[in-house]
Amino acid sequence: MDRIRIVGGTKLNGTIPISGAKNAALPLMIASLLTPETLVLENVPRLSDVRMLKRILGNHGVDVMVAGKRIGERDEDGETVKLNAATIVDTTAPYELVSQMRASFWVIAPLLARMGEAKVSLPGGCAIGTRPVDLLLMALEKLGAEIEIEGGYVLARAGNGLKGGEIDFPKVTVGGTHTALMAAVLAQGTSVIRNAAREPEVGDLARCLVKMGARISGIDSSTLEVEGVGSLHGAHHRVLPDRIEAGTYAFAAAMAGGDVTLTDVQPILLQSALDRLAESGATVTSETNSIRIRRNGNGIAPVSLETEAFPGFPTDLQAQFMALMTKANGTARITETIFENRFMHVQELARFGAKIRLDGDTAIVEGTPVLKGAPVMATDLRASVSLVIAALAAEGETMINRVYHLDRGFEQLEAKLQHCGAQVERIRA
Ligand code: UD1
Repeated sequence: MDRIRIVGGTKLNGTIPISGAKNAALPLMIASLLTPETLVLENVPRLSDVRMLKRILGNHGVDVMVAGKRIGERDEDGETVKLNAATIVDTTAPYELVSQMRASFWVIAPLLARMGEAKVSLPGGCAIGTRPVDLLLMALEKLGAEIEIEGGYVLARAGNGLKGGEIDFPKVTVGGTHTALMAAVLAQGTSVIRNAAREPEVGDLARCLVKMGARISGIDSSTLEVEGVGSLHGAHHRVLPDRIEAGTYAFAAAMAGGDVTLTDVQPILLQSALDRLAESGATVTSETNSIRIRRNGNGIAPVSLETEAFPGFPTDLQAQFMALMTKANGTARITETIFENRFMHVQELARFGAKIRLDGDTAIVEGTPVLKGAPVMATDLRASVSLVIAALAAEGETMINRVYHLDRGFEQLEAKLQHCGAQVERIRA
């Protein structure tokens, strides 16, 4: 397995282009199952999760084509992917594939909506808490699906098609909202989705579905109304920028010090994270499509926070912010409210000399002036990149093992950091 070697202590200076959002690209690709016509997605990040989903969709009969580079396209532009599901050859998503990536479970909604049946393995994915799918199945039942669980598989049927219905989510769920939307767009009649997730990636899916002919109102709000249509058509859509990748590099710049500009971003999508970063003492300047982060000389102030659904501070940036707080001049309390057990990075950060104590769903981080490089292990996607952030500011060498987790969600991580002067290299297995 590849490893990443980082020698800490260098300031970051330069520009980092932000890729398309993984968490938008995945549901958008899955939405191609809803139409026999071609869905063209631009700015799709080159990530192992995207490659895995191409395989999963291919298994259902989706023709996936990656367009070559056009004149004027820049290296940092993501792929243009054309997906055509003219014929769905298989409505089963097997354990071998779904267990590799949790989001692939969401194929259940378009398969059911278009084909009236789906058999999808219960998911695996990041080891963060139990992550059930009960609310996704509840949403499908509200739209008239019959659900059975058998041998680790969910069997969903809607012999006469799905019917519009009212879905009230008892808690905000991104995957639940994606699932409800993709099912409701082809259901007969009107559906209302209440307490819908307002994460920008949900809005991105909804906007693409509208381009495909869906009738959705209330986009970006917590109540979505969907008037079902008989069929959807092809469309062209650009994946929105990755707010989690942007936040990660913003925190990395604040941790290492220096002057970094993130381009191809929408600062509004990570405002809560940028506000916390500014409170910690970094100078953050946002333009329409770029964010500049500077920290020179002055230290890192402790900032306490809790994770929340959008527009609150994202759980997907919790580990990275904790890494930043390990060098604060004071104590910060970081509370995780979305996932239980999302603190696997705590033990690994301790290997750098970080002082973190857990008290239920709260990590108490006592800042320390010096971190020391160490061999560490990547455990899940966001936890892994928190180790990169710590390593950038640690004295000496850090070796990060099991980097396949990073490759699931960060495109060209080493190149982007090297470009800003960081001493980072990948050691191939
Ligand atoms: C998505 C993101 C993930 C992010 C998370 C929260 C993708 C591919 N993944 O994950 O990066 O951390 O949103 O912003 O977009 N829950 C239930 N029952 C369900 C579904 C969820 O109890 O049926 C719970 C979960 O255990 C969790 C909470 O709801 O405690 C939120 O989870 P959810 O928003 O569904 O996360 P994902 O969609 O899996």
